[in-house]
Amino acid sequence: MENEKKKTVFSGIQPSGNLTIGNYLGALRNFSQFTDEYDCLYCVVDQHAITVRQDPAELRRRTYEVLALYIACGLDPEKSILYVQSHVPAHAQLGWVLDCFTMFGELSRMTQFKDKSQKNADNINAGLFTYPVLMAADILLYQADLVPVGEDQKQHIEITRDIANRFNQVYGPTFTVPEPFIKSGSGAKVQSLAEPEKKMSKSDPNENAVVRVLDDKDTMIRKFRRAVTDSGSEVRRADDKPGIGNLMTIYSCFTGKTDEQIEAEFAGKGYGDFKTAVGEACAAELGPIQEKYKKLLADKAYLESVMKNNSARAAYLARKTLSKVYRKIGFTSV
Ligand code: TYM
Repeated sequence: MENEKKKTVFSGIQPSGNLTIGNYLGALRNFSQFTDEYDCLYCVVDQHAITVRQDPAELRRRTYEVLALYIACGLDPEKSILYVQSHVPAHAQLGWVLDCFTMFGELSRMTQFKDKSQKNADNINAGLFTYPVLMAADILLYQADLVPVGEDQKQHIEITRDIANRFNQVYGPTFTVPEPFIKSGSGAKVQSLAEPEKKMSKSDPNENAVVRVLDDKDTMIRKFRRAVTDSGSEVRRADDKPGIGNLMTIYSCFTGKTDEQIEAEFAGKGYGDFKTAVGEACAAELGPIQEKYKKLLADKAYLESVMKNNSARAAYLARKTLSKVYRKIGFTSV
């Protein structure tokens, strides 16, 4: 057993905005739990981010920021491979091959594509459409077994599995077919504070709808206090109380308390006390991460050395899969 090859975990986050507690609870926070038992790769997916127009200076800055956050959240760049997608050309190279194994019809059914094309009606580019294929390439390139993501990425993991199976059927076993790791019911689906029927999104133009990982304590509390809640005053989960339900989920993630414990804790108290407590619990967990993050971000040379060393490690693994794929489909090599 000792010598058995470890399984692989892969995940990525787009540097397309300041990360929200949705990104944190749905994905980032779960990354470190795999690092002992799995070989882990966590990527800053800058190539995905340009499917929506980005300001170049901001994209560059955010790439450093997401990498710094990975480390601040407990990921060790000596142990896990923390790197930037555009530094490893094999992602785009495998992406092209997989484009030729993905159907127009199946990409048309992707809900994220439908959503994003509505929001960016003046820029429905081909990259936005083929986005899930690049994501499949990210995952399949490293033969990942497990992909920790939030609920909204489930459909993209399903199409990744379909693409892998299709390729394997034609050419024989080539790709590991990955499983999603989604913590349903606890943080995999954090909703907007302004419109609790919508997911909390880092690109939401309404700043009061999102709590950022890097918001200071007062801002967090203020945003939670402004959260849209439902009529009534009882802290209780119910179908007609999506706003309170969302806050209960967030509170439960930060405190480990169950719904029953939360209901008992706030029995007879109003929404106001509860919302302040949610803000405080959130700030208590994220405060120390922010401190570490600030120190890391100030050391650009260190972050660049991490990028450089880790992209070389990733590229080495990626090349193995890419060569295998090129050989199988009949590309020549000299
Ligand atoms: P992105 O950058 O939109 O989000 C990063 C991660 O955060 C999760 N997430 C949420 N979880 C719970 N509640 C929310 N409100 C919420 N919002 C976002 C996302 O599910 C995601 O896990 N396509 C991916 C990035 C990607 C990727 C990959 C992920 C590219 N290649 C390969 C895994 C494997 C994305 O847009 O994530």
